[in-house]
Amino acid sequence: MSKNYKFYVNGEWKESESGETIDIFSPYMSQEVGRVQAISRQEVDEAIDVAKIAQKEWANLTVRNRGEYLYRWIDELLAMKLDIAKTIMEEVGKPYSDAVKEVERTVDFIRYTIEEATHMQGESMLGESFPGGNRSKIAISHRVPIGIVLAISPFNYPVNLSVAKIAPALISGNAVIFKPATQGAISGVKMVEALHRAGLPKGVLNLVTGRGSVIGDYLIEHPGINMISFTGGTNTGMHISKRAGMVPLVMELGGKDPAIVLEDADMKLTSKQITSGAYSYSGQRCTAIKRVLVKESVADELVTLLKQEIEALTVGSPVENNQIVPLIDDNSAEYVQGLIDDALEKGATLVIGNKREGNLIYPTLLDNVTSEMKIAWEEPFGPVLPIIRVQSDDEAISVANESEFGLQASIFTKNVDKAFSIAARIEAGSVQINGRPERGPDHFPFIGTKGSGMGAQGIRRSIESMTREKITVLNINE
Ligand code: G3P
Repeated sequence: MSKNYKFYVNGEWKESESGETIDIFSPYMSQEVGRVQAISRQEVDEAIDVAKIAQKEWANLTVRNRGEYLYRWIDELLAMKLDIAKTIMEEVGKPYSDAVKEVERTVDFIRYTIEEATHMQGESMLGESFPGGNRSKIAISHRVPIGIVLAISPFNYPVNLSVAKIAPALISGNAVIFKPATQGAISGVKMVEALHRAGLPKGVLNLVTGRGSVIGDYLIEHPGINMISFTGGTNTGMHISKRAGMVPLVMELGGKDPAIVLEDADMKLTSKQITSGAYSYSGQRCTAIKRVLVKESVADELVTLLKQEIEALTVGSPVENNQIVPLIDDNSAEYVQGLIDDALEKGATLVIGNKREGNLIYPTLLDNVTSEMKIAWEEPFGPVLPIIRVQSDDEAISVANESEFGLQASIFTKNVDKAFSIAARIEAGSVQINGRPERGPDHFPFIGTKGSGMGAQGIRRSIESMTREKITVLNINE
């Protein structure tokens, strides 16, 4: 019988009065690794009620006091590092060494967040700067917490992307309702266990788990929620944005990040970056390279090098740190296989791959992909990469921008002037020159445009999104 994990409210671990749980199945172990609570709407209300009370006192602490709790959280996370990494591996099938790195990256994230918040200052403005103004008015601006932040995180970084919301929210004086992805929730529970051990005051963070059909919309529309930070699929993001009303939203959604390869690119570096960008964690990253737009004159050379790189990827269980691992569930594998089949039926060239064992899809490279094929536009979240051959820079830019997504893009060239001029025309939150798309380092702004999201993350931006400016005006009457 696998373990029953509780939810966390007002500093206590509880079983739901619903009596219902949700089974979590490992992507590679063919077995259940635990059960999480399917809580009721009444229990959601309870979590938000206690958060509201706790937030007031939490916000009254100084930023340094709040930082002390978060520093203790770091200590507890480090003490639990290997246990949490094993849980990430078992629950979402991430290669073990990457799971360890995820916890370490998270610790660095929290530390930087404390330092950043501690050093953020407000500003003052003099009335004299405005026409007709004078020195009798001075505005003092500083940031205050927004209230209760609803943090909804995805399966693929169950610890890091959760903390990327929770740490900025807490250091700024907010309370948090944390709703992890169901697959990823056990990792979330363990991470919160570390926060509990760190002595976080009760009610400041509450972890809720449950069925989307019961608590999903209820949470999003709840009048007690003051801000929503969501990372996940574009369809869910669209749904949240329709339901959330006037609550501020930051959303990081899907992507179809292109790698644009020009004639003068360093082909060895390019093929290595593309392979790592496309196939790490089997492509289950929103910032994965999901299409290559290569100039026809160098396409054959690039495809040959990519094939060599892909042949060297290891495939199998995450326990042995294989690079290609089973996808999160059977439906995901089915979807990816459907995209491969569609492309091959419509005339794409199979360079390597198209082999499947259950939800384990071997790394697949498709050449001569055209705009009629679904793989040219849809996000597989799996280890398949389409090559689209283009005749000109303009065509590359046009195909890149035709996508509904706009997260990141890469340009590979030795011509920096050209790289900057193409980067300026690409519709994406970030453009990487001679490197793969990626979120880190985590203090860089991380921005999705179009269907890839709204608002900005990255440590400072996240703190700003979870606080608002408060202005106090001093009127000097003499
Ligand atoms: O898919 C989540 C996204 O945030 C990717 O992060 O660090 O792999 O670029 P990263």
